Amino acid sequence: MHPLQRIREKESLLVIGLMSGTSADGMDAALAEITGAGLNTRVKPLGFVSLSYPAEIREEILRLASGDAGGSRDLCLFHFLLGELSLEACRAVCRQTGVSPEQIDLVGSHGQTLYHAPAAESYLGRPVRGTLQLGEASVICEGLGCPVVSDFRVRDLAARGQGAPLVPYAEYLLYRQADRSVGLQNIGGIGNLTVLPAGGAPEDTFAFDTGPGNMVIDQLISRMTGGEQRYDADGRIAASGRISEALLSWMLDDEYLRQPPPKTTGRERYGKAYVDALTARGDALGLTAADLAATATRFTAACVLAAYRDFCPVKPDELIIGGGGSRNPTLLRFLRDLLPIPVRLNEELGFDSEAKEAIAFAILASECVHGCCNNVPSVTGASHPVVMGKISL
Ligand SMILES: Nc1ncnc2c1ncn2[C@@H]1O[C@H](COP(=O)(O)OP(=O)(O)O)[C@@H](O)[C@H]1O
Ligand SMILES: [Mg+2]
Repeated sequence: MHPLQRIREKESLLVIGLMSGTSADGMDAALAEITGAGLNTRVKPLGFVSLSYPAEIREEILRLASGDAGGSRDLCLFHFLLGELSLEACRAVCRQTGVSPEQIDLVGSHGQTLYHAPAAESYLGRPVRGTLQLGEASVICEGLGCPVVSDFRVRDLAARGQGAPLVPYAEYLLYRQADRSVGLQNIGGIGNLTVLPAGGAPEDTFAFDTGPGNMVIDQLISRMTGGEQRYDADGRIAASGRISEALLSWMLDDEYLRQPPPKTTGRERYGKAYVDALTARGDALGLTAADLAATATRFTAACVLAAYRDFCPVKPDELIIGGGGSRNPTLLRFLRDLLPIPVRLNEELGFDSEAKEAIAFAILASECVHGCCNNVPSVTGASHPVVMGKISL
């Protein structure tokens, strides 16, 4: 029997979703039991692990992602190395849940984005768009012995979409409500908001990047600790500083915040050059490192408010926070200060804040093998629904 036919005929599937985000902090793996397909998809999360990258892996991701570093040897070998790390993350989530790897039916792997160019760049005299996620799926497939779906973004990009965001499709399946509009604010390296209008169809969904999530905070902490700490654990450093109104208004005078959706952002805008300018400004104002962290944390929350206030044609009735930023109590406090709606954690709904994106790729993979379209053209800008993902058997 064709391996995909066997999968399609099974009542429920054990699917692992893999995600490595712009923070380059680690490889996340979520295991879920998925039943049904399309709008009838049911998902039961079973476990989650995040394998932290050693410093040299993280540094290599940031180096290769900078756009002008790394040759074909680096890209080739790193692609296979990330495939190995992806396989390790799969095995780790199996161990954690007591499920044997032979029982896994399917894996959906996002991989690590190294370059994302949704707007045409001039290349060899032609306008070219593209996106590149690494982590060779064949390595996972060989190691686990089950089909692996990978390389999701390219299909949406080819259909003239931005290739992002992809999580809203899964969010629609999991979080939609008939009687209230739900806002899902993910706070990874970048912050992104999805709004599911009450009783809406998939095409009523809208989503965009709100601005930096943890990216600026992480860089400040890494600088002030000489690389000892990668992030502001439990928001403690920000909690010990004072918010500088002067620096905050400088940060809020930001072209990205004025730009209407669809819009996406990343390390190109809020990376090293931005943090250089920010620290120079902070020094001129006589601020301490903790004040800088406090102000950057407040800025992340202020970006979420700006998104809610300026660019939501349907205002969400509540905001559910996901991503690693949900572990930062100072940031949560600032969000609750600023937003006029309840700010809740995924845990209150029985989900895991950190597992959410990885679960989304398990769902997208399941939809792919069932031949269901799994992009949301209203959020990616694609000209039509497509089935994203390439299947390794
Ligand atoms: N206990 C914590 N306290 C504060 N911040 C945290 C904590 N745990 C995770 N984070 C933040 O979450 C980030 C990782 O979030 P994640 O959702 O994995 O982002 P990405 O999708 O960009 O990889 C870390 O870089 C860090 O800034
Ligand atoms: Mg991460």
